[in-house]
Amino acid sequence: MEAAELKRIVAEKAVNTFVKDGMNVGLGTGSTAYFAIKRIGQLVAEGYDLTCVATSVQSENLAKECGIKVVDLDQVDSLDVTIDGADEVDPKMQLIKGLGGALLREKIVAAATIREVIIADESKLVEKLGTKAPLPVEVLRFGHEHTRYALKRQGCEPTLRMRDGEPFVTDGGNYIYDCRFPGIDNPFFLESRIDVIPGVVENGLFLNTAYDVLISRQDGTVERMSGQTD
Ligand code: 5RP
Repeated sequence: MEAAELKRIVAEKAVNTFVKDGMNVGLGTGSTAYFAIKRIGQLVAEGYDLTCVATSVQSENLAKECGIKVVDLDQVDSLDVTIDGADEVDPKMQLIKGLGGALLREKIVAAATIREVIIADESKLVEKLGTKAPLPVEVLRFGHEHTRYALKRQGCEPTLRMRDGEPFVTDGGNYIYDCRFPGIDNPFFLESRIDVIPGVVENGLFLNTAYDVLISRQDGTVERMSGQTD
């Protein structure tokens, strides 16, 4: 099956399963979350009353094009469900996110969410985090080369993310270093080391964040990994 079709299948399955009329819903970012937003737009067109919060300007624009009501996060007490993608998923449902550049807002929205649902195709499954994707780390522009040295001391090769020959700038106005590790043995320890580096705004480890992970397989079936009980 085509990659886009696998993304669509898993995104629609997640929306059909978890989004109910009247809910507050978080909208993820990326090429898989794109299909979830499109499906949510269809539900709104069918008459669902949903209040949504976007994890990026890109997703907010798409949602508005789809006729979805988008509000600021501070206008809701909490989100019933957020549907978002991931760059890596390990067997314990720990994640790397942020290749789409929205990790900061994604983490804030996830923290305000009761049920974080992650959608991905099976190419995102790994035995150990960091073996396929780099770990994105969002940093302040001020002194970012010094922040880079401190990241490198954690055992990775950090590369400043570029776009059109210029450093990529996030919705928060920051830079991203994509940190290539030879696999991450202890993500909790690594996160604690990265978070105390001055200049680091947020890291792309999403640990104990996913409530459900839906994975689309090459044959078109969708498998649900659940680490927590309802
Ligand atoms: C954006 C993200 C995305 O969820 C992640 O990059 C997956 O994107 P895609 O569905 O396009 O593979 O974390 O910051």
